[in-house]
Amino acid sequence: MFIVVYLFICMYESNATKSSSFLMICRKILRFAGLGAGLAWGGLQESARRVMYGTPVGDGKQSALSPFLSDQNAERVALALCRMRGAALKVGQLLSIQDESLVPPPVLAALDIVRQGADVMPRKQLNSVLDAELGQGWSSRLRSFDYEPLAAASIGQVHRAVLKDGSDVVMKIQYPGVADSIESDIENVRRLLTYTNLIPKGLFLDRAIKVAKQELARECDYFLEASNQKRYKELLSDSEGYYVPNVTDELSSKKVLTSEFVPGVPIDKVAVLSQETRNYVGCKLLELTIKELFVFRFMQTDPNWSNFLYDDSEKQFNLIDFGAAREFPKKFVDDYLRMVVACANRDRAGVLEMSRRLGFLTGEEPEVMLDAHVEAAFIVGVPFATPGGHDFRANNITHSVSNLGATMLKYRLTPPPDEVYSLHRKLSGAFLACIKIGAVVPCREMLFKVYEQYDFSDDHSEVLSNTG
Ligand SMILES: Nc1ncnc2c1ncn2[C@@H]1O[C@H](COP(=O)(O)OP(=O)(O)O)[C@@H](O)[C@H]1O
Ligand SMILES: *[C@@H]1O[C@H](CO)[C@@H](O)[C@H](O)[C@H]1NC(C)=O
Ligand SMILES: *[C@@H]1O[C@H](CO)[C@@H](O)[C@H](O)[C@H]1NC(C)=O
Ligand SMILES: *[C@@H]1O[C@H](CO)[C@@H](O)[C@H](O)[C@H]1NC(C)=O
Repeated sequence: MFIVVYLFICMYESNATKSSSFLMICRKILRFAGLGAGLAWGGLQESARRVMYGTPVGDGKQSALSPFLSDQNAERVALALCRMRGAALKVGQLLSIQDESLVPPPVLAALDIVRQGADVMPRKQLNSVLDAELGQGWSSRLRSFDYEPLAAASIGQVHRAVLKDGSDVVMKIQYPGVADSIESDIENVRRLLTYTNLIPKGLFLDRAIKVAKQELARECDYFLEASNQKRYKELLSDSEGYYVPNVTDELSSKKVLTSEFVPGVPIDKVAVLSQETRNYVGCKLLELTIKELFVFRFMQTDPNWSNFLYDDSEKQFNLIDFGAAREFPKKFVDDYLRMVVACANRDRAGVLEMSRRLGFLTGEEPEVMLDAHVEAAFIVGVPFATPGGHDFRANNITHSVSNLGATMLKYRLTPPPDEVYSLHRKLSGAFLACIKIGAVVPCREMLFKVYEQYDFSDDHSEVLSNTG
């Protein structure tokens, strides 16, 4: 993954045309490249780290690049990052979702500096976006509007405002031009990555690019996000402990999304609270993840910790950011649940069968690939393997998959099903959050509760959309 960051930075640095949407797209690509390789997400990170730090990986093909990607270069990356504040912020958004130990210290330090100052639209530009999107009279519908952004969004910025009736809202306002250049920007990235030949073929770049384009196009449409948000709110309406803010339709458009302001701290900040609270938060997070996938079959797939704002005074999760929400077909979810249960039970035959059915394996793989695949699956299944509460403080799942990644990259014959890119990003995000806050969570009990009540009957007419 780091390889991509590095390349990207170098290109960006030497390129006169500074397009912030281009960087943002790289962030997207990174998310996919880093987490999109089926069950091997931990292994990929390890491979990236080894390449970064100069240890040969796998078949030795990449080792030739190692001197190129040394610690020294990490510092160059950091310097380059500092020179491009707004853009680097977006890469940073991606990186810190990953295990921080993968990111070289100079880069972490640089990202911290960069984070202080986000890319902000000048007031005039902001007004013209708002005029164009909401009509000239938009401000007459507000009591006040705070021109100082509350936060940076991935492709825009977020402002606080107060409606005429006194309710507190936030307005997410998209940078102009982002939506129009998705295709060409992603094509540029594809050309760069293909040309440099640095992406191992087991990552199936083309498939990831295809998924990235689709996802990004959807995330640029705030109408779609608003409808996701409403649907999600409806789905969660009788689940205790979660809250989804209302959308203000009158002040929303394709590039502006206005919703109720909600309080809370990002999930990683929970790490300083009591163990009891951390366990509660871990449980609620996992409960939500399991429900989204196996009950709603509709999931918010951006695991950024700021999207789960925990309000300790109410013991409530305020959930935001539904741009990356998506449906999963019933057939896919049926088989995926069977596979998770097989992982939890260390059932080799079950894992292999479900992996074939889901499209992780073709059935033509050599034994060494099957072994690596099954072993990775078991490791990912560890939190679900034993009853009575899994202690995320004592276990690094990410760490254990490390040696399997190279094998899987080498022998993988087929890209993972499209559903998996976003799903595994989300699942690894949830696990990493539990590790970060050090929660103890009865994962197995939670999974089997859903499994026992699950309806596997297929009177639904959906088909697996694997072939797109
Ligand atoms: N309803 C809200 N209440 C409070 N803060 C919000 C709300 N919506 C967004 N924010 C703030 O704005 C940030 C970016 O919003 P988000 O929707 O996550 O943007 P993105 O498009 O990058 O996913 C959030 O991390 C949060 O700090
Ligand atoms: C998460 O999103 C927020 C707001 O968009 C951003 O400030 C933060 O850096 C992101 N964090 C990560 C880890 O990407
Ligand atoms: C959110 O919308 C619902 C339905 O329109 C309404 O009943 C509720 O009062 C609203 N909540 C807030 C805090 O505005
Ligand atoms: C997690 O992994 C890191 C190395 O990546 C190691 O230093 C640390 O001790 C591990 N933690 C646990 C609890 O195993």
